[in-house]
Amino acid sequence: MTGKTASKKGASKKTAASQPAHLIDHVDAPPAPPCTLVIFGASGDLTHRLLMPALYNLVRAGSIDPGFRVIGVSRRPMSDEQFRADLTTSIKERFAETGGEFDAKTDGVSVEPGKWDFLRERIHYLAADLEDPASYADLNNLIGSLRQSSGGKDPGIGNVIFYLAIASSLFEPTINQLAASQLLKQTKNGWRRLIIEKPFGHDLASAKALDKTILKVLHEDQVFRIDHFLGKETVQNIMVLRFANGFFEPLWNRQHIDHVQITASETVGVEGRGSFYESTGALRDMVPNHMFQLLAMCAMEAPNSFSADAVRSEKAKVIQAIRQLPAREAADNTVRGRYLAGTVQGKRVKNYRDEPDVKRDSTTETYVAMKLMIDNWRWADVPFYVRTGKALATRKTEIAIRFKQVPYALFRDLPQAVQPPNELILHVQPEEGISMNFQAKVPGQQLAISGVKMNFKYSDYFEAQPNTGYETLIYDCMTGDATLFQRADNIEGGWAAVQPILDAWGKGYGAIVDYKAGSNGPTAADELLMRDGRRWRDLA
Ligand code: BG6
Repeated sequence: MTGKTASKKGASKKTAASQPAHLIDHVDAPPAPPCTLVIFGASGDLTHRLLMPALYNLVRAGSIDPGFRVIGVSRRPMSDEQFRADLTTSIKERFAETGGEFDAKTDGVSVEPGKWDFLRERIHYLAADLEDPASYADLNNLIGSLRQSSGGKDPGIGNVIFYLAIASSLFEPTINQLAASQLLKQTKNGWRRLIIEKPFGHDLASAKALDKTILKVLHEDQVFRIDHFLGKETVQNIMVLRFANGFFEPLWNRQHIDHVQITASETVGVEGRGSFYESTGALRDMVPNHMFQLLAMCAMEAPNSFSADAVRSEKAKVIQAIRQLPAREAADNTVRGRYLAGTVQGKRVKNYRDEPDVKRDSTTETYVAMKLMIDNWRWADVPFYVRTGKALATRKTEIAIRFKQVPYALFRDLPQAVQPPNELILHVQPEEGISMNFQAKVPGQQLAISGVKMNFKYSDYFEAQPNTGYETLIYDCMTGDATLFQRADNIEGGWAAVQPILDAWGKGYGAIVDYKAGSNGPTAADELLMRDGRRWRDLA
């Protein structure tokens, strides 16, 4: 994570100021301590599409110790060799793809046999029934035998990360079984850590219950709750932008900022995840986790240090300061939408209710927009407008900081009487960078003003490496750095902030509105801002 990068090897190879024409090298991290990564859900999509490519990228970067092992666990019987062959096929396919989570960054890059073989030969497989204690005994034996096969010389094999890439209904049974079979017990021969994917609960009560189960058998510092948005470079950069530069912070408050817009607009629909999505919806899927991480990065106070706890404490504080409204008011400040059939980027998209595994009379939202207030000194009276949805016209994730109008309209007699206020836009994806909109004089004898844009693009300065976003997260877990993972209070704070909306919808407040696939979302979302005299930034 950011706090460590200055000491990473290669950090000072080139500088942007001295050689703007050259790209600054990616900073590789030294090998993490050896460990065994046990992936529950090894035959699933996450393992194939993200975890294995991320591990491979870590190998390429020289960040994996030779004592590293992977044990894939899944129900289907398979040999180590079959599992390895399966992963070899999928990683090759993944590298040949363009677009998607891997972006176009892998274009022209193919899997290097030597590096893949290094990882491949460290991969093992165990067929298991996660509800059967015998499977955990098998796992224990396998971990032990891998250790023996290294002649016991490999101390790292006693270090184990358990990665829960499984259905959330299996989280608690699996954690309980791991604890009962003593697999979570740390000894002088090794630490034990747990990585848990979202969804972390489906409301405040279930998130608290899950935390209770986990914290009964593990210490908080053994728990790594993943929010993959925190693996994105551009999201991590928000902290650097704010706290490594002097000129933003004096303006970063209610005196100068009119409002903030946080957008995660997706072109994809539910893509075969109908049954998951139907019981989740856009609010649960994106807001208490990803959207609130963006909000926290942008709105938190400066932490005392870059230690995991200092950063997470500041995030928890700001998330806990989100105003919780009574049900009716919560519904009035929220819009829920659902897509109808339409065309997204030239492709026909079905009505959400015609998607496989979706109920014909579904009331699940595929879009949500909301106005949030943060009750603290920095942000009093500054609305944070948040929107996210599927099957929209454009793929775009960004945070836009809209500054207040100039206090006195000096140029009011010019033809463009109203000069738009300044905007700072943090582009998270697919564009990665920062831009600023301001006014400038149009050249000529007559005074005229025009809006202009100053644009910083990551790719102009930094060499992009193939990256799934999971590399940093896995590496950080191996090194025990929890800065980019959610602590229990972050998760519970997020759920507490959206619980009034869930309650309001449960009571029937806030009818669901339709929008056409391929549009910018429901018109009701525009009205949410219009009633405050504001408008969303264009999605295009
Ligand atoms: C996931 C959600 O957590 O994040 C998906 O479950 C969503 O529905 C995805 O599409 C968005 O992540 P990214 O990295 O593709 O923007």
